[in-house]
Amino acid sequence: MPKILVTGAFGQIGSELIPALQAKHGANNVVAFDMAVKPNSFDVATEQGSIVDLGKLKEIIVKHNIDTVYHLVSILSAKGERDPNLTWQVNMDGLRNILNLAVEYKLKVFWPSSIAAFGPTTPRDLTPQHTVLEPTTIYGITKMVGEALCHYYYLKFGVDVRSMRFPGLISWKTEPGGGTTDYAVAMFYEAVKGSDYTCFVHKDTILPMMYMDDAIRAMIMLMDAPVEKIAIRTSYNLTAISFSAEELAIEINKHLPLAVKYEPDFRQRIADSWPQSIDDSAARADWGWHHEFDLQKMATVMIEKLKEKL
Ligand SMILES: NC(=O)c1ccc[n+]([C@@H]2O[C@H](COP(=O)([O-])OP(=O)(O)OC[C@H]3O[C@@H](n4cnc5c(N)ncnc54)[C@H](O)[C@@H]3O)[C@@H](O)[C@H]2O)c1
Repeated sequence: MPKILVTGAFGQIGSELIPALQAKHGANNVVAFDMAVKPNSFDVATEQGSIVDLGKLKEIIVKHNIDTVYHLVSILSAKGERDPNLTWQVNMDGLRNILNLAVEYKLKVFWPSSIAAFGPTTPRDLTPQHTVLEPTTIYGITKMVGEALCHYYYLKFGVDVRSMRFPGLISWKTEPGGGTTDYAVAMFYEAVKGSDYTCFVHKDTILPMMYMDDAIRAMIMLMDAPVEKIAIRTSYNLTAISFSAEELAIEINKHLPLAVKYEPDFRQRIADSWPQSIDDSAARADWGWHHEFDLQKMATVMIEKLKEKL
């Protein structure tokens, strides 16, 4: 059984990945690491600290005999624009720490990139796997450089680091941490609470999205895939569904009344710099990726789960 460290464990993805990893590998084979330890529904060994503290990370890896890391710590796109220096430090120094530890302790690493690695000069429809990467946010820049760094550590040191470019992730367990696609989650919350919603992107804004269950399955599939199937060591394109903000509101309205006003703010410019749809045929061909949740199925589950939660 692998001994797994999840960094950024109490964020939107980590809080769903941990129980999935515990179910697969055993509750005692997963360790959670985060700067902010939050109350949660799962029982997991927890370590608190900052990802920039190499000494602390080393101590944890040795103490728990870690051989696999899901490195999720990041400052996300919208939050990142408020403090570019901190974003560079947390995202880049954090990744470099994990990759250096991977060399020293022969760790297998998962690290997520994002559609934010693309930019306004990238083809926006069915964005190819190999294409222009000229991001215009500091978050996107850390993803672009991070991809190149993962590739470099694979080539130079043989680190088995695997990555995928996530689209916007939609989930009900933990609220998102300051990304540009947060409006998609917020619309569900407001609909279930019976409130109106003011959306920070225009109604015609189309972005690629994915339901969290698909994202968790994708991460585990990629990490389980035989090494010879992993042909891409920068980051795999990955997608499920693309829809506009208005199409999402219409879908939610089939279940619950939701009045939406559209008042774009600085996040509109970020959304406009990202693709509308993604070609993820390499992930599908190399390690069998397929999504299970379309817009209708995702909306039904989100509303059902949020009604129970709220
Ligand atoms: N959620 C999405 O829609 C999405 C889309 C594309 C890519 N991703 C990527 O997936 C990963 C996880 O995203 P998420 O949505 O779970 O993020 P999140 O913001 O919800 O969680 C990040 C976690 O990292 C922790 N953290 C922040 N700074 C830290 C530090 N210095 N030291 C230790 N912990 C620190 C936070 O406390 C938080 O719990 C990130 O790399 C992100 O870029 C997410």
